[in-house]
Amino acid sequence: MLVNLKEILAPAEKEGYAVPAFNVYNLETLMGVAEAAEETKAPVIIQTYSRLFKEGSGYYLAPSVLAAAQKASVPVCFHLDHGASELETTRALRYGCTGIMIDASALDYDGNVALTRRVAGICGHVGIPVEGELGHVGTVNDASMEEFTDAGQAKDFVAETGVCALAVLVGTAHGRYKKPPRLDIGRISQIKEAVKIPLVLHGGSGIPDDQIKAAIGAGICKINFGTDVCYSFLDAVFASSRDLYAVDLFMKNAVKSVKAFALEKIRLLGAGGKA
Ligand code: 13P
Repeated sequence: MLVNLKEILAPAEKEGYAVPAFNVYNLETLMGVAEAAEETKAPVIIQTYSRLFKEGSGYYLAPSVLAAAQKASVPVCFHLDHGASELETTRALRYGCTGIMIDASALDYDGNVALTRRVAGICGHVGIPVEGELGHVGTVNDASMEEFTDAGQAKDFVAETGVCALAVLVGTAHGRYKKPPRLDIGRISQIKEAVKIPLVLHGGSGIPDDQIKAAIGAGICKINFGTDVCYSFLDAVFASSRDLYAVDLFMKNAVKSVKAFALEKIRLLGAGGKA
């Protein structure tokens, strides 16, 4: 069943687990994630980058995500990941997203507040909750990380913008880590204590299991996985024989591989059986 971001995160916050948010890119990654959620009776967030909506594949993918959500017996939120502007977030609403992320974290504090508040206002008019980001979570290729999210500033940010979930910078980055990240678990607890809304961890691929568990214990309720969804798909594709040319049959292994990856993360996050 299709639910919104606030609805899917509320029980996780209360019961102390995290909802996995998998980035999907095509029908096969969507199928793998949807099958894993159904099999484990787990709530799941299925999200896409705004470039998919911009470049046209979202035109085909969005109705497929919505169809998967309607068919599912588990709660599914269709979420925009890293919307960068009013245009991108409004377009995602048009495509049927039930959660929106506005990422204005590269702006200064006042600029971030202003854009995030505007987007939360627009989405609020149509009943769609918004995730914001304070402290810019960059990529593993960045020379250094910005200053980690400050708890006091996070409290003000949430009050000033009206977001329902907050992505924070606590030691993660997007992409394949060159060495395992070390999360600032104490800081997650401080931020959680200050903001009292679900916190979001970006850059979930490659975080060691014990740190994922500690982060959830400290207040993380949504963890994003993108890079390793891609690798689980691509590794299976590259390992498949070219002799199998019927594309639907060729793709079966890739769907299976994405499903296996999603099953593992669902269990790790404690989301299995929570639907
Ligand atoms: P990874 O690609 O590092 O898993 O990060 C995904 C993410 O945070 C998407 O917003």
